[in-house]
Amino acid sequence: MADLKKPRVRAEELRRLIRHHDYLYYVLARPEISDATYDRLFNELKRLEQQHQYLIPDSATLLVSGGVAGVAEGFAPVEHSSPMLSLDNASTEEDIREFEARMNRILPGATFRYVGEPKIDGVGVALVYENGKFVRGATRGDGRVGEDITHNLRTIRSLPQTLHGPLARYEHLEVRGEVFMWEAAFQKLNRDLEEVGEGAFANPRNAVAGSLRQKDSTITAKRPLDIVLYQLAADPRSTPFATHWEILEAFGKSGLPVSPEARLCGDLDAAIAYHRVMEDRRNEIGYETDGVVLKANNLDQRVALGFTTHHPRWAIAFKFKSQQAQTRVRRIVINVGRTGALTPSGDVDPVEIAGATISRTTLHNADEIARLDVRVGDLVVIERAGDVIPHVVERVPEPEHDSRPPFQMPTHCPVCGGHAYRPEGEVVWRCSNAACPAQVKERLLHFGARRAMDIEHLGEAVVNQLVDRNLVKDFADLYHLDVETLASLERLAKKSATNLYKAIQGSKNRGLARFLFALGIRFVGEHAASLFAQHYGSMEKLWAATEEELAAIYGIGPRIAAAAAEFFAQKENQRVIARLLDVGVTMTEETVKAREKLLAGKTLVLTGTLEGFSRDEARAAVTRLGGRVTSSVSKKTDYVIAGKDPGSKYDDARRLGVPVLDEAAFKELVSER
Ligand code: IVH
Repeated sequence: MADLKKPRVRAEELRRLIRHHDYLYYVLARPEISDATYDRLFNELKRLEQQHQYLIPDSATLLVSGGVAGVAEGFAPVEHSSPMLSLDNASTEEDIREFEARMNRILPGATFRYVGEPKIDGVGVALVYENGKFVRGATRGDGRVGEDITHNLRTIRSLPQTLHGPLARYEHLEVRGEVFMWEAAFQKLNRDLEEVGEGAFANPRNAVAGSLRQKDSTITAKRPLDIVLYQLAADPRSTPFATHWEILEAFGKSGLPVSPEARLCGDLDAAIAYHRVMEDRRNEIGYETDGVVLKANNLDQRVALGFTTHHPRWAIAFKFKSQQAQTRVRRIVINVGRTGALTPSGDVDPVEIAGATISRTTLHNADEIARLDVRVGDLVVIERAGDVIPHVVERVPEPEHDSRPPFQMPTHCPVCGGHAYRPEGEVVWRCSNAACPAQVKERLLHFGARRAMDIEHLGEAVVNQLVDRNLVKDFADLYHLDVETLASLERLAKKSATNLYKAIQGSKNRGLARFLFALGIRFVGEHAASLFAQHYGSMEKLWAATEEELAAIYGIGPRIAAAAAEFFAQKENQRVIARLLDVGVTMTEETVKAREKLLAGKTLVLTGTLEGFSRDEARAAVTRLGGRVTSSVSKKTDYVIAGKDPGSKYDDARRLGVPVLDEAAFKELVSER
């Protein structure tokens, strides 16, 4: 950290490493390092980039820096090299046999092998690579003309910007595939959106479409998008490939992600068996599929079969049985979250969907209920997607519906009776009582979460008892719990109580960034928390900052600044933080200390005219970072800062091999950011 040149070099190295491991992880699915090691690399780079803004690179690593791409003008039309067609559908084995019979009518006596692939429920895209470089990507649009979404596609981590292997040398290559979202990532995205009062997406497909439609790719960069490629858009006669399977292999070798679930099937029976296996596994796959796509493998056969205006004759979507069912809503229940968000869900008559008995559905928020116009007693269609709580797709119209009272959000918190309200501009209703036990429980769980204070063993069962028995009302109370008290909790033996006690006490030194995140201030996620920590270095200084000062920090928006200022202004929060300080919770950040002392023990010489600094200002800036300014260059000088028209000191520096920084580098180095 002491070497001025090092951050830039180190950042380059980190970016290279991260790209490499992204490739191993996302494309080959063969990671070579643990998640923790990956996180360490990633966080080191993030820290470097936060400390030295000038290190943030251009679009190539915009992912790593959390998205710094520019804002697109709009979506330019892109004409596809050949139409992006649909697929014919089949839902029974008979349909599939008829599909092969149709092909045999065109190619009598032919035998077919098939490639089976999951039919991913995402958004189809076409990508163009020129000489191995990703240059353009578009949506399907009307099939003939799509929209240019290159800037957003560049944010997808698993999509290579540069190809290697067999496809790298093509002057022009168009590949097609599906952008999708993993079910777990989708659920988390929705929780995060609801947390900040924004509307949730009804399903992963909508979330993908919405993310790809962003004008500002920094938003897209934050969305957990993934992609698989399944088609080479070229006349097979102009390629060296004889089969679709070879194409998928070439994709894989070139760095283009392909579905690991794709299988080569020797005949139609094998393809039907593939469908059956995938249907059994559909809830384990981790993303939404509504069937498999069966494609004739032989490319010569494909050419002979051709297309209708609507779909290829050599491929078909073989659908799975519906994961939907009808049931009746018996009750609408309200759950209270960490920030007091009131989230409705529906108790329904138990129904079986794809082997699981369902008795509860999510309803997201009041707007969603209003949109569906679901009332207690209504018949609804619910759908299971992935392995999660199902959602309501639609209401089945019934004459009785009108006589049922429309749903209304409660005016009081169902847990504590506190006043419930809907903040302006939000879709979420909230309980206004910060001491609401439901909120306290959620806050404690968040406080102890792995990425926050990382208190192992502080799970739901423990937190519930601690709050219900009035042992803990705020974060500070946690640190006053002794082993005996913990051992008095149900289902907590002495040994577990001791472990929990140790985990609590051992969490005191997580540093300011994680502590700030753990506080659960609205809108203050890990990123904002670490920006605050980097900027102020201690709770004391952060506390003293005004809302305007907070908002002036690079990367902190007005909404975050307002929420943080409000949080610190509240007497109750001040009291809890003071008590946490008393028990010895660290509220400083190591990295900031290092940053503050970036020039500790260093000697610098100034030469030439600096445009943005007077000599005194430059000197003060160096001193503030722990450095010293001297007047002549020697071998012991660490850096020479060269402004306009530098004098002989510049030549001295070159002669002695002392590193020279220009004004821009100096400015970025000493700037508070
Ligand atoms: S092949 C000409 N393969 O389904 C055939 N499509 O209903 C091109 N889809 O627009 C499509 N998974 O967006 C193909 N493994 C897969 C697919 C797939 C999902 C989508 C694709 C297409 C739509 C057709």
